[in-house]
Amino acid sequence: MTHRAAVVGAGHTRFGVLADGPRALLRTAVDGALASIDRGADRSSLGEAFLATLGFGGWQIGNSSAVLAEEISPAGIPTVRVENACASGGFAVREGVRAVERGEADLVLVAGLEKMTDLLNARRRYWLGVSGDTEWERLAGLTFAGVYGLIASEYVARYPHARDALAEVASKNHENGTRNPNAHFQKRVAREDVLRAPRVADPLGLYDCCPVSDGAAAIVLASAEHARKYTDTPVFVEGLGAASDRLAVQERAELTRFDASRRAGDAAFAMAGIDRSAVDFLEVHDCFTIAELLALEDLGFVPRGGAVDLTLSGATRPTGRLPVNPDGGLKAKGHPIGATGVSQVYEIFLQLRGGAGARQIPDAETALAHNVGGAGATAAVALFARG
Ligand code: COA
Repeated sequence: MTHRAAVVGAGHTRFGVLADGPRALLRTAVDGALASIDRGADRSSLGEAFLATLGFGGWQIGNSSAVLAEEISPAGIPTVRVENACASGGFAVREGVRAVERGEADLVLVAGLEKMTDLLNARRRYWLGVSGDTEWERLAGLTFAGVYGLIASEYVARYPHARDALAEVASKNHENGTRNPNAHFQKRVAREDVLRAPRVADPLGLYDCCPVSDGAAAIVLASAEHARKYTDTPVFVEGLGAASDRLAVQERAELTRFDASRRAGDAAFAMAGIDRSAVDFLEVHDCFTIAELLALEDLGFVPRGGAVDLTLSGATRPTGRLPVNPDGGLKAKGHPIGATGVSQVYEIFLQLRGGAGARQIPDAETALAHNVGGAGATAAVALFARG
């Protein structure tokens, strides 16, 4: 494998309904990422920085990376905002890795941030909707839960026991969230509770949905050759893939697959030169439970419909053969939009260095991060390996 860059530090706020405003959240995540670098590095060592944020609620919707610059850079280094809806974080990580590869900076910061809970429900719905297709979805009244509900209906009609598998995704990820002190939800939810919960967009109920959360995450990237200057245990980026698809789901060939995820996954595996069987655990974009099943299929871990049996067999639990979302996923950890893709890499950084505490996957060496924008219009995939 050719190492492309390495993660040498990572920081994270709690996710949830938080009193802190956006600047304080960003500061906590960035301070945490810099403080976690074993042999130390301060703000003045950073050469470039990227900020993933949707600007939910209209918060600093223009020039938001200047806020990051104020937090990190007395020297005024270049900072860029990356916005690709819920995949903003994954695409910002990709930009950060590419900046390192181009040799533009020795150390690059990638931060993700969203403040979502300070709005009334109607405004939340508006700001969630802006990343869907405007003409055919948002203005027609279709919400994101509605789009994923359509996808889930089709999937449940096609594959026996699919509704139970959706409930298992929710129950597993809530269970995983109880072991993550940063998670929005830290309570167990049984499969029966998921099935009995109030409907949000049939067949999806309350526990099939990710929540609306505040939070931030940050990582520090170094070039592969200089990584050991900062730590003895860097986490190397081995493969990157990114792709897009038609924005409106009605324009796609099929409802129950995301071609952007498939293309991004294939590109990441081709770049890393490894097989699916080498991956020890996955961080996938489970904004709704159906999305976790689609991810397993789109990323090539199982054939179409195969995610039902895999999930019901317990294989995706932390003790199974392919753990998925050990941190609770978007479902239980929360989904502060711009922070999510960066938070997935935070989890991988902890896990591959053996520092994930009660949720540690034993001997994890290789992991995949998968971040989706909207209902599959954009996707970013990255593969990581222990140094
Ligand atoms: N999962 C589990 N519990 C949830 C929850 C979720 N997603 N959302 C809210 N709750 C809980 C709350 O903690 C609260 O519990 P409490 O009564 O014990 O305090 C209760 O349910 C009611 O919370 P409330 O905030 O009033 O819920 P809501 O009805 O306003 O919102 C959803 C629920 C599912 C509509 C909202 O979480 C949502 O829109 N999620 C999807 C976000 C989204 O689309 N993101 C982009 C993805 S592409």
